[in-house]
Amino acid sequence: MPAISAPLHHVGLVVRDIETIARGYAELFDINIWHIAHTEPLLTRAVVRGERTTFGGRVAVGTAPWGSTFWLIEPAEGRSTYKDFQATNGQGIHHLAFTMDDAAADGAIAALASLNAPVAQEYDLDGVGSVVEVDTRSLLGGFYIQIIRPLAGGTVTLPADEELDLAGTYARPAGVGPLPVPNGIQHFGVVVRDMVARTESYTRVFGVPEWSVQNWRTEEGSLENPTFDGRPVEHEYFAATTPFDSALGFEIVQPTLGPSDYKENFLNVVGEGIHHLNLVGLAGHEHWLTLRSWLTATGVDVCMSGTLGGGIAEFYYLDTRKRLGGLAVECFGLDPSVDLTTMEGKGPYYRIGSAVFDGQEA
Ligand SMILES: [Fe+2]
Repeated sequence: MPAISAPLHHVGLVVRDIETIARGYAELFDINIWHIAHTEPLLTRAVVRGERTTFGGRVAVGTAPWGSTFWLIEPAEGRSTYKDFQATNGQGIHHLAFTMDDAAADGAIAALASLNAPVAQEYDLDGVGSVVEVDTRSLLGGFYIQIIRPLAGGTVTLPADEELDLAGTYARPAGVGPLPVPNGIQHFGVVVRDMVARTESYTRVFGVPEWSVQNWRTEEGSLENPTFDGRPVEHEYFAATTPFDSALGFEIVQPTLGPSDYKENFLNVVGEGIHHLNLVGLAGHEHWLTLRSWLTATGVDVCMSGTLGGGIAEFYYLDTRKRLGGLAVECFGLDPSVDLTTMEGKGPYYRIGSAVFDGQEA
């Protein structure tokens, strides 16, 4: 059994200033309505790394038109893992959150403990339920797993004392934007130092049935025309991805040779962690050019790009870190006539199955 089989409840980010970052989500993704709560009046029984404490701050909750919910956490005074994360990372994805009943939560916490991922923080939130944050930074790469046991009734709604409505506070050029997200978050792109060790951890935690692994390298048939910070580069990285139809998808990236955004602007700066969301679908190169001129005008640059498989696919990483709170966004466009399974057998490519459960299926 995997440690966690519940669906994702929200993506939790630590940010410096809620209003600034919420504006980025509004302008780029049409997440215009944010419900903001002050933490301290709602918080009881807080224990952080074994010590009773209390902490302040604000949380803003917004839901995308494509269904994902984001919690923007602005820590203030008092010790918390959010404050720790702010010190080490500045901004970025602090946790992935799951809601569970008591039995499932106890099971998940015990399973994670057996994988050397201890509870880092727990507290009760008035009107929400009890929250446990497991320190999975070493196990999964730089972020926590948050487990919420909802109050009776089962739904989690943060009691907000303020609503921020950003509709109409920004303008996009005619016919452009927001960024097109046809199928929600396709994967969380996690940059790590050891891809093989991490894939095994993810399989144990999330029950990933199979990984597709590629050693992407600058050469014909693999990674073509790669750029980093606007310049052509030669670089390489290992990437292991979960199946395309995963409800919760991951891409585990280990940068190796040459300069890349993964390494120079992320791993070398904040260490392992969730580097990007893959969610933007491009409908051809002209579509990309239209988006790019709008993005450039809003201060979002391309930090890495390339084409794959003789031009059947193109990808662009947007440096949205200042707009979205430490997070880059991957745009991907695939020639619609291409069957992705034809990639198999081309170049260095293999699959890792689910044999880690002592012969059980994941
Ligand atoms: Fe990716």
